[in-house]
Amino acid sequence: MAEKILVTGGTGYIGSHTTVELIEKNFETVIIDNLCNSSTEALKGITEITGTEPAFENFDLCDYEKLLDCLRKHKNIKAIIHFAALKAVGESVEKPLEYYKNNLVSLLNLLMAMREFHIPALVFSSSCTVYGEPDKLPVTEESPIKSASSPYGNTKQISEEIIHDTISAVPGIRAICLRYFNPIGAHKSSLIGELPLGTPMNLIPYITQTVAGIREELRIFGNDYDTPDGTGIRDYIDVGDLARAHVKAISRLLEDRNKKPVEIFNLGTGKGLSVLDIVKTFEKATGMQVRYKFYPRRPGDISRVYADTSLANKELQWKADTPLEETLLSAWKWEKRIRNLS
Ligand code: NAD
Ligand code: WQD
Repeated sequence: MAEKILVTGGTGYIGSHTTVELIEKNFETVIIDNLCNSSTEALKGITEITGTEPAFENFDLCDYEKLLDCLRKHKNIKAIIHFAALKAVGESVEKPLEYYKNNLVSLLNLLMAMREFHIPALVFSSSCTVYGEPDKLPVTEESPIKSASSPYGNTKQISEEIIHDTISAVPGIRAICLRYFNPIGAHKSSLIGELPLGTPMNLIPYITQTVAGIREELRIFGNDYDTPDGTGIRDYIDVGDLARAHVKAISRLLEDRNKKPVEIFNLGTGKGLSVLDIVKTFEKATGMQVRYKFYPRRPGDISRVYADTSLANKELQWKADTPLEETLLSAWKWEKRIRNLS
């Protein structure tokens, strides 16, 4: 019988891609999402790609009673992947209470429900933001955690601590925290992808919207960093590769019970690329020109971060291997599809 996985935030960007990968590996999926940053279009996309419609429950994870009702209805959940969170760094500075409440109460509720229903496994979406501006590159899982520069980043640090403390105290639960670097791209079918509301904050949607004519030009934030071309360096990881790492993490939790109770893995490519590298590769991959201008640095940005991924490569037997051109082309095809461009 297929093992049942609960995916919180499963209609969101990374959650929808992961649900596809889970279904394709014969897991049964139940999605919880309150659609505060996604829509049921993602369910249609998942169903069209896989031929299977995931179970879907629309409610806010901050509502503990609804979560209990959901787990009474969907019995025998074997593991949870917890994507649901608010994620806009800038907004979190303006609305810290909303961010702390949403991201922390939903995690507390899930952990209490795991204890109540004896659900033994959790995969948690963490972020490279916990490393701040690293002293040494690439960053390993042992690199120091820096004090968070935003309430959003702080919710990820506090969440990891809550998970550690809970798992030390509650026997029978294990967790894997996955620290994502910069997830980009869309499913190759163009049926699911990233749907930023309003003006995008992240680089790739800003580029695709500029090329689609929705934005006048890409503003490159800073060309005076201490990097080869002066622009900021990040580790951009294909969302499909990222999704596949979650399936590996789930399998590790379900199959190999002799590992540490809490494990942490960096998920990136291990390669640092500048904003200009991304612009040039996008142009090559799509044949489209990106209009851009240099602007001052964006407050709060760091100059360089990229991952040491050797732990995930070895322990999860996983590697990000989608070529960057393919990923950037998928982002452009997705933008064209949602804007009805030919
Ligand atoms: P997303 O906004 O596309 O997906 C999150 C989903 O969670 C949305 O569908 C939203 O409606 C839902 N949600 C939020 N709060 C909820 C609540 N209280 N109850 C029910 N549903 C709720 O974001 P994403 O990019 O897919 O990110 C997924 C996770 O990965 C988040 O935890 C995010 O912090 C983390 N992460 C994302 C990135 C990135 O760059 N996208 C990088 C590092 C970490
Ligand atoms: C990438 C690079 C910008 C937009 C954010 C969060 C982080 C994590 C991943 C969740 C930087 C430059 C961007 C633009 C630009 N998310 N840029 N013009 O800032 O690395 O990380 O997403 O955990 O917490 O902070 O990603 O895509 O915003 O920026 O020049 O319009 O592109 O300065 O060098 P970032 P990003």
